[in-house]
Amino acid sequence: MKSISVFGLGFVGLPLSLTYTFYGVKVYGVDVNKEYIERLKKFDTHILEDYHRKNIKEILKESIENKLFEPTDSAELAMKNTSEIIVTVGVPVENRKAIMKPFNAAMETIGKNLKRGNLILIRSTVPPGTTREVALPILEKKSELKCGKDFFLAYSSERIAEGRAFEEFQTMPVAVAGINEESTKRGKALLDLINPNVIKASSPEIVEISKLIENSSRDVNIALVNELASLTEKMGVDTMEVINVANTHKRVKLLTPGIGVGGHCIPYSTHYIYYEAQKLGLELPLLSTAREVNENRPLQIVNYVEEALSKIGKSLQGTKFAITGIAMKDNSSDISESPAMRIKDIIIQKGGNIVWYDPNVEGDFKEKKETIEETLKDSEVLIIPIKQELIKLNVDLLGSLMKEKSIIFDPKGLLDRKEIEKLGFVYISI
Ligand SMILES: NC(=O)c1ccc[n+]([C@@H]2O[C@H](COP(=O)([O-])OP(=O)(O)OC[C@H]3O[C@@H](n4cnc5c(N)ncnc54)[C@H](O)[C@@H]3O)[C@@H](O)[C@H]2O)c1
Repeated sequence: MKSISVFGLGFVGLPLSLTYTFYGVKVYGVDVNKEYIERLKKFDTHILEDYHRKNIKEILKESIENKLFEPTDSAELAMKNTSEIIVTVGVPVENRKAIMKPFNAAMETIGKNLKRGNLILIRSTVPPGTTREVALPILEKKSELKCGKDFFLAYSSERIAEGRAFEEFQTMPVAVAGINEESTKRGKALLDLINPNVIKASSPEIVEISKLIENSSRDVNIALVNELASLTEKMGVDTMEVINVANTHKRVKLLTPGIGVGGHCIPYSTHYIYYEAQKLGLELPLLSTAREVNENRPLQIVNYVEEALSKIGKSLQGTKFAITGIAMKDNSSDISESPAMRIKDIIIQKGGNIVWYDPNVEGDFKEKKETIEETLKDSEVLIIPIKQELIKLNVDLLGSLMKEKSIIFDPKGLLDRKEIEKLGFVYISI
């Protein structure tokens, strides 16, 4: 297996492709976004990852120059040269419903270019049953070949966390299962090339559902501590101290509360399961409640800040807010389902003025500022939702640029409460 194709070059597909190149495998990386393909050819990407002190752009440059990575928008070119195909095209959610269109379009393209002996290994997170009930019929119809006999199809969930992708592709245990035994064998062989911890499961459905419940278990556990925080915040009790005390119990392991849950993985997984359950006439109230708790968390945060404002005789309307770090999590460039974005939108809806700064996040946005100084200037409330290493916040900067008696909402505890209070500011954490 000297060359493979990877469909979808996003937060998963690009670092995954480059990981294969570490092992001497030539990778044709296929993406429908032509502009992005041109950008990749110039060794540039919006994705932030590094490995062994090299950042992803350097790794990308080396892989292209060594002719081990070829970004292309031509599925035909890629599939002409490869017989193993990995798919990382996502399944978005709109109005709590899975939108299969992009994934199905990828399957149609792959189906049209399919040859005898090909293996398709799906690594996207998908609603239960997608491999067998959605991918397989499209591939068979478009190729006029028989799955399990003429070509092979397997599913292996992807478990990496953004920011740790290169390391986790090679070390995180992964499960794989195919439509038949040969498909499982071929899928495992493809994964074995980069990861020694590949587990075989009995069916694609097992792996699809286990991925979803892995994500949903995090949704539920985060919802639990977010709900706890909403209680302790109202009571004026230190949430983290409660959690630390509770965690001295040997069988309790509470997570850390936050401002909500971002990214596609966790929120979408719960929607995929929930949608499937509804089709089967099941309610699964725990999952839907957990989702609701986490979705409401940004609104709760805004209400919490609004209460702090009213205690010092101010209202949210007309107040100048600043947010430093808008991405969906620490040191990320990804804004998908970002709770910080949601906080920003709620503040605007409620009549506040807001600007934000995040050097990791690309693109033109109305409220985006290019420097920390412009962002903080004359602001009355600063929200620091996540930790972006590139954002250098210090107390002197806040003191010199922000208005008197400002409020600092610092859920991650990045600043020193005493120092902030010395400025005459109000400091709030979780
Ligand atoms: N981001 C994560 O940390 C993470 C972790 C584990 C699993 N996942 C799952 O992996 C999948 C991909 O996630 P992502 O974050 O990389 O998404 P992404 O949106 O960053 O990337 C998807 C890429 O697919 C491309 N694409 C869309 N349609 C295509 C087609 N027909 N052919 C080729 N390319 C196409 C898009 O242009 C985009 O570049 C999702 O199912 C996600 O849930 C993501």
